[in-house]
Amino acid sequence: KDIQAMFVGNLSGGRFIDQEHIASLIAEHAGLSPIPATRTEAACASGALALKQGVMAIESGFHDLVVVGGVEKMTDILTERTTQTLAMAADQEWEAFFGMTFPGLYAMIARRHMHVFGTTREQLAMVAVKNHANAMNNPNAQFRFETTIEGVLNASMVADPLTLLDCSPITDGAATIVLASEKKAKELADSPIFITGSGQASSSIALHNRKRIEVIDSTLGACDMAYRMSGRGPKDIDVAEVHDAFTIGEICAIEGLGFCKMGEGGKFTEEGFTQIDGKIPINTSGGLKAKGHPVGATGVAQAIEITLQLRGEAGKRQVDADIGLAHNVGGSGGTAVVHILEK
Ligand code: COA
Repeated sequence: KDIQAMFVGNLSGGRFIDQEHIASLIAEHAGLSPIPATRTEAACASGALALKQGVMAIESGFHDLVVVGGVEKMTDILTERTTQTLAMAADQEWEAFFGMTFPGLYAMIARRHMHVFGTTREQLAMVAVKNHANAMNNPNAQFRFETTIEGVLNASMVADPLTLLDCSPITDGAATIVLASEKKAKELADSPIFITGSGQASSSIALHNRKRIEVIDSTLGACDMAYRMSGRGPKDIDVAEVHDAFTIGEICAIEGLGFCKMGEGGKFTEEGFTQIDGKIPINTSGGLKAKGHPVGATGVAQAIEITLQLRGEAGKRQVDADIGLAHNVGGSGGTAVVHILEK
């Protein structure tokens, strides 16, 4: 009852369920009217953007207790229309109009990454194998089954080289976080988790307008801002949830966030560094790949997974962590948002 404002990430309630204006609707359903309720949209990064708006509302002193959420209901329409709806977050004039889809765009990024850096098809598959294994220990994951490199390679082709098991699924989901000022948090919670860094960057939506596509440059800008704000660097991060909407997305993310050298994400994955018991566990939740990707909710859900890890409440997928990072990408990289969370 003390919540002063709400920020909700949502990609396209209008297209998925014919419902726009969802922030006020949710505030009403949650019994929070008449608080100010705002929807944020930046494609698949809508959730992390809501989180960032919440952080800014608290940091500015405008509010000291807000709720941040993310939500998407994607399964009420046929895959064909879902794909078309998601593609609205690509460049309409130059990409979607010609039939381009997100699996297609990420397939081009994958091919380019393989060409420039020598990343192998098997290394992409290893991302899916790891994330499906992690999801086995997440009761909230959409897909709790294990797979193998052969299983990924032999799954139905979606957009060459990406098969079904390289893709995140179509998902319904929601996630919520209560954010408070430091003073208020200490009054309300025994072990609050602190957001010490918050960064966001943009890039051209259309792939062909970028200087390079084997690197997601918005990730570099967003993490630079978050690292500077927190005074932390990649070596300080103990656990991370990154945007693996497609397996190549995770490889680009761990490179862009500085966990390994640029171009070495495939090798880093193959050597086991991103495994749950590795140097830097990545996507302990199962990631977008296996936990699911309800687009507007994903960025908030990532921060929740990091919170559970830092609090020691992650059950069978618990790792040893004091500092964590959440990385959410909009579309093929037109937006990236990074948050750093600490005990
Ligand atoms: N990973 C693993 N299994 C998946 C899956 C995925 N991503 N998507 C569907 N499946 C499974 C289903 O559970 C189903 O299994 P069953 O036959 O045992 O029940 C089977 O594959 C077929 O499912 P279906 O719902 O018919 O698949 P689809 O063809 O409608 O959708 C994709 C598959 C890949 C097209 C869809 O998941 C997709 O578009 N993913 C990308 C989403 C996206 O672009 N997000 C935004 C990123 S920027």
